[in-house]
Amino acid sequence: TTRTPFIAGNWKMNLDHLQSIAFVQKLAWSLKDAKHDYASVETAIFPPFTDLRSVQTLIDADRLELSLGAQDLSPSDSGAYTGDISGAFLARLDVKYVIVGHSERRTIHGETDEVLAAKVAAAHRHGLVPVVCVGETAEDLEKHGPSAVPVAQLRAALSQVPASAEIVVAYEPVWAIGSGQAATPDQAEQVCAALRSTLVEVLGADAAAATRILYGGSVKSSNIAAFMREPNVDGALVGGASLDIPEFASIVRYQH
Ligand code: G3H
Repeated sequence: TTRTPFIAGNWKMNLDHLQSIAFVQKLAWSLKDAKHDYASVETAIFPPFTDLRSVQTLIDADRLELSLGAQDLSPSDSGAYTGDISGAFLARLDVKYVIVGHSERRTIHGETDEVLAAKVAAAHRHGLVPVVCVGETAEDLEKHGPSAVPVAQLRAALSQVPASAEIVVAYEPVWAIGSGQAATPDQAEQVCAALRSTLVEVLGADAAAATRILYGGSVKSSNIAAFMREPNVDGALVGGASLDIPEFASIVRYQH
């Protein structure tokens, strides 16, 4: 199986409305200028909810080769959930991907493995592909070693979806997020390989071989190529560096 490399830009709560439109246009131009081979890498952006519609309209109008994702969704489909956004709403905006279980949601919003399993199921119900984030804190690493916590988080997250569900996995060590201190390619490979073995058990060998596993945590243009050389790392979930157009464009063009 060949897995199309996946480079995802998670904007988090950044870029206001006008900035985000200009940003997407400039990013598309800058990839075009470089005679970028769009087929060789899938590029996805994850704007805040409030900009999903305008970014989607722009992608459509200019036929930009960018995939669109949201940063979260509700485990429920509709009802009295003030402030929440359901998978049905996202699907209507032509959103393809949705991040589930980012460490910032786990820590700031106290999202548990149970809630996240329900979110993964909700994404699947609405035809969205969840980008399931897992990763250990520095304390977990010291206590349990590198793979135990991410593997347990992945198992829990997949407990309510059928083996046929398309997913993307993102391994993001919490200590590497926004710290400037990325994992080494070796460290990332070790955990991503363990996550792939877990996928074999949970989804079966074929689905595991087809599933993309990303590394995230202080990815930049200077370290992306080394991560991409690892056999079980199929892409990156980029935070800070995705807000800088030339930097993000060179991450996407890591092969050049
Ligand atoms: O979702 C992205 C990650 O949290 C990584 O963030 O690239 O700023 O370290 P970062």
